[in-house]
Amino acid sequence: MRIFNVVGARPNFMKIAPIHRRMQNTHSALEPILVHTGQHYDERMSKFFFNDLQLPKPDVYLGVGSGSHAEQTAKIMVEFEKICQEQKPDLVLVVGDVNSTMACSIVASKLWIPVAHVEAGLRSFDRQMPEEINRLVTDALADHLFVTEKSGEENLLREGVHPDKIHFTGNVMIDSLIGFMEKARQMDTLSRFGLVEEEFVLVTLHRPSNVDDPQILPRLLNALQTIQERITVVFPIHPRARKNLESFGLMNQVDHLPNLKLVPPLGYLDFINLEMNCRFVITDSGGLQEETTYLGKPCLTVRENTERPITAELGTNEIVGTDTEKLITLTDKILNDQWKKGQIPPLWDGKASERIVQTLENLQE
Ligand code: UD1
Ligand code: UDP
Repeated sequence: MRIFNVVGARPNFMKIAPIHRRMQNTHSALEPILVHTGQHYDERMSKFFFNDLQLPKPDVYLGVGSGSHAEQTAKIMVEFEKICQEQKPDLVLVVGDVNSTMACSIVASKLWIPVAHVEAGLRSFDRQMPEEINRLVTDALADHLFVTEKSGEENLLREGVHPDKIHFTGNVMIDSLIGFMEKARQMDTLSRFGLVEEEFVLVTLHRPSNVDDPQILPRLLNALQTIQERITVVFPIHPRARKNLESFGLMNQVDHLPNLKLVPPLGYLDFINLEMNCRFVITDSGGLQEETTYLGKPCLTVRENTERPITAELGTNEIVGTDTEKLITLTDKILNDQWKKGQIPPLWDGKASERIVQTLENLQE
């Protein structure tokens, strides 16, 4: 069975890595082909992850780059259709909820190629999020839906997906985390950035609803200004956020905050090292809500909702919204050691990729 494993953007790499590796190692008849759409293309948003995650060079690189939603989605579809027609895969496997995920699912479905979606069923119920549209379309088309948490299964059943198509297999992002934690621990990240264990907060922001909004981004920066008076802030900045800090004229303010370290996007091992060593995380990332829950690190999520409710119900995450006063109050609560402990969700055990690959192998019988 020839399988196209599709990646496009940063959060796809750590999800596909354990699946691709397992398919390559397995003695079964699975033949994985790694396809990179090129949605993310900067070294720091792409190549770094291939090195850190020990992923082979992509077999196919589509080089689509950036653009509006329609432009980017269309470019991916045109290029992906060509290689599907040339190489005729038996299955297309997509992960997560980025434009590449949806674009490749549409193309495959129309060519009658079965689609497997890893991280299916997550719903924020907020259709202003581009990812929610990508999730809905991909799941409506997918033939095999692999879910990370119970809510995913419930959402899919409610939407009328046949139970036979749904597989609760766990979280592949946690497979990578578990697999690379020891290597990450050995990195000299703290000394390189002049940081002390448990004495900094790790921040990432890249959601358009936060960083594209000329009202919200300055408010969030003001909150970080207050927080850096209490604890060092490390902010590896996504290219979308950097562009907007510059275009909204906020760089001058950033440059004058002595305790805020704005650093370029980091490779996986450096970043996991900071996640393991920080006091807590402030983020709007999907993946970070999950990784912090696994690591037991407090996480303040700067969004009005989450498609990963288990991280707030069982884990260490709290959905704060963009209320900056609340963000500062909750920061104080964490610094006063009053945070919940949290538990690791079911099947976030490092074996999700094993279960997924086994399920796909069983299809051949
Ligand atoms: C994408 C995903 C989002 C995911 C995020 C992870 C969609 C709709 N969004 O958002 O779900 O959480 O990736 O990081 O798929 N850029 C660069 N270099 C790059 C890539 C992007 O400079 O390598 C800049 C470009 O100016 C580009 C902008 O970032 O226009 C946005 O990139 P895009 O891929 O459209 O969306 P992200 O915001 O990265
Ligand atoms: N990450 C990283 N370097 C960074 C920021 C994030 O390696 O500078 C990792 C992080 O550990 C997680 C993934 O990227 O594994 C999350 O991706 P991102 O936040 O870009 O996307 P989202 O999860 O929001 O879709």
